[in-house]
Order: sequence, then C-alpha cells, then structure tokens
Amino acid sequence: MTPSALIEHCAKALADAQVSFGQGTLQAADEAAWLVLWKLGLPLDVDTQTLHDELPETSIEAVLGLLTQRIQTRKPLAYLTQEAWLQGVSFYVDERCLIPRSLIAEILADGSIDPWLNPEASSALDLCTGGASLAVLVALAYPQLNVQALDISADALAVAAINVERHGLQDRVNLVASDGLEKAQGTFDLIVCNPPYVNAQSMARLPLEFQAEPSLALAGGTDGMDFIRQLLRVVPSYLKEDGVLVLEIGNEFEHFIAAFPYLEFTGLYTSAGDTQVLLITQSALLA
Ligand SMILES: C[S@@+](CC[C@H](N)C(=O)[O-])C[C@H]1O[C@@H](n2cnc3c(N)ncnc32)[C@H](O)[C@@H]1O
Repeated sequence: MTPSALIEHCAKALADAQVSFGQGTLQAADEAAWLVLWKLGLPLDVDTQTLHDELPETSIEAVLGLLTQRIQTRKPLAYLTQEAWLQGVSFYVDERCLIPRSLIAEILADGSIDPWLNPEASSALDLCTGGASLAVLVALAYPQLNVQALDISADALAVAAINVERHGLQDRVNLVASDGLEKAQGTFDLIVCNPPYVNAQSMARLPLEFQAEPSLALAGGTDGMDFIRQLLRVVPSYLKEDGVLVLEIGNEFEHFIAAFPYLEFTGLYTSAGDTQVLLITQSALLA
C-alpha cells in the first residue's frame, strides 16, 4: 500500500465513523492526510512522488493503529500527535489547553490590522492566551512589539511556556497568570483576545472531540458573553489612546449584538466571513 492509498482509506474510515472536525482540519480528507503523514514522519508539504512509494507492513500497521485510536477514543488528532499548525507555524499541544485554531491567526497573517496600528506601536497583549499560539504569531508578525500573554489556567500557561521557548521568544513574550486583565502591566497598542464564548446551549451539545478540551477555554455562560461583558467594561483603560482590541466571538454574533447594541466595531474578514472577529477601537469602547 502507498501513502496515497492509505490517505484515501483513512479519509473514508473517518467519514464513515462520523468523527467531528474543526480542531485543525475541517474535513476527512485533510485530517486523513495529516494523520498519515504525521505517523509516517513525512512533512505536510511532502513531494507527491513519495506518496506513491510502497510502504513496509509495519508502517501501514502503525498508521492504522493511530486511525483506530482516533475513531475509538474520539480524541482530537492534535492531542494524539501533540502537534498543531496555525498559519504554517507549529505548536506543541496537549489536553491542558485548547487546540490552536483561532481565526485571529488569519488576520495576523494577512495584515488586516496594519492600517489600524500606530506605526510607533511597541506593546501588545494576548488575553486568554491558552497555549500562546496567538502571542507567538503576534510576536512573529510584529517584531517591534513586546507581548504580554495572560491566562487564568496554570495548565495552559505550562503549555504556553513550551511554545514560547520552541519559537525562541522568551525575550519578547511574557507569560502571566491572570484572571482577565487583573495582572496586565501598562497600556497596549494592540490587544488580541480569543476568549471562552460558547453559549450554554451549544456547550450542552458539544461533540466528544470538543468535550476533550478544557471547558474553561470554551464556556461563556448562557449567551456566551460572560467573559466579554467583563472585558469590555475594563479594557479601555488598558488600551493606548489609539489602541485597538481584536476580539474573536465565533458564531455568537447575534448574542454579541444583543449584549452591546450601541457599540461601534469593524468586522474583519476571515475564511469564516466578517462577523467572527471584530476590531474595536479605544474611542468606540469609551463612547
Ligand atoms: C478559547 S481559549 C483561547 C486559547 C488561545 N488564545 C487560542 O486561541 O488557542 C480561551 C482561554 O481563556 C482562558 N480563560 C478562561 N477564563 C479566563 C479568565 N477569567 N481570565 C483569563 N483567562 C481565562 C482559558 O484558560 C483558555 O486558555
């Protein structure tokens, strides 16, 4: 059997087993390719010729073993491989933190924030940093910025420390244990935040794969806005005069509008449309 045939086999098995996607891949074919290549020790950008080489029996069995584990346990593949990719950057991950997949990563990669950012900007904050994927991506996208990365979870911060070291950013990314902005030091040109925002009804219907993630990272109360309500009350005093907040709200746009009917914001375009990541200026927050 070749890697290509194995990928096809795994894609069909994942689809037949109706596993859930959305934690690194969005469909069976992509998840199968990731699973097979990772287990075979091949890069994600493997040359296509290699995909047609015959594999030894032991390699095939190893891949099928991982496939069975994925289907039987319903654990997200990223937890089984302890690796996740976001915008071409690799991150260590385990059950102590959310699997990196924030749409804010797209915004950081395509430069949509640049027109809003003061050319003299020097400081950024990643609130609810989890495994520090966004803090690392901010630091890589904007070498002039020092980044504070805050989270309430000691477990998540332990994973964050691994990723900050993996990318050699210990000098520019400072990890801080903090409930909300409580321990933030100073004011910031840019605050990014992918908070817990899943509403209670959706939490009650979470597929098993998502139940494997810390609920502290997901649950946002009845309308998903518990954390965001608190945040918007205090965040203006942590932003510089021309500073901006980039906030992910996922599928909770309706709840956001209902909770903050008079707040002015700009919807930033991502692969999920323009209602899932919002940019809010300090002056709009104060208005
Ligand atoms: C949706 S996850 C985002 C993780 C990471 N930023 C990402 O995009 O992958 C939300 C994070 O918020 C953290 N969190 C929950 N409540 C918090 C609070 N009151 N203060 C600070 N962090 C909190 C959780 O521990 C979790 O790591």
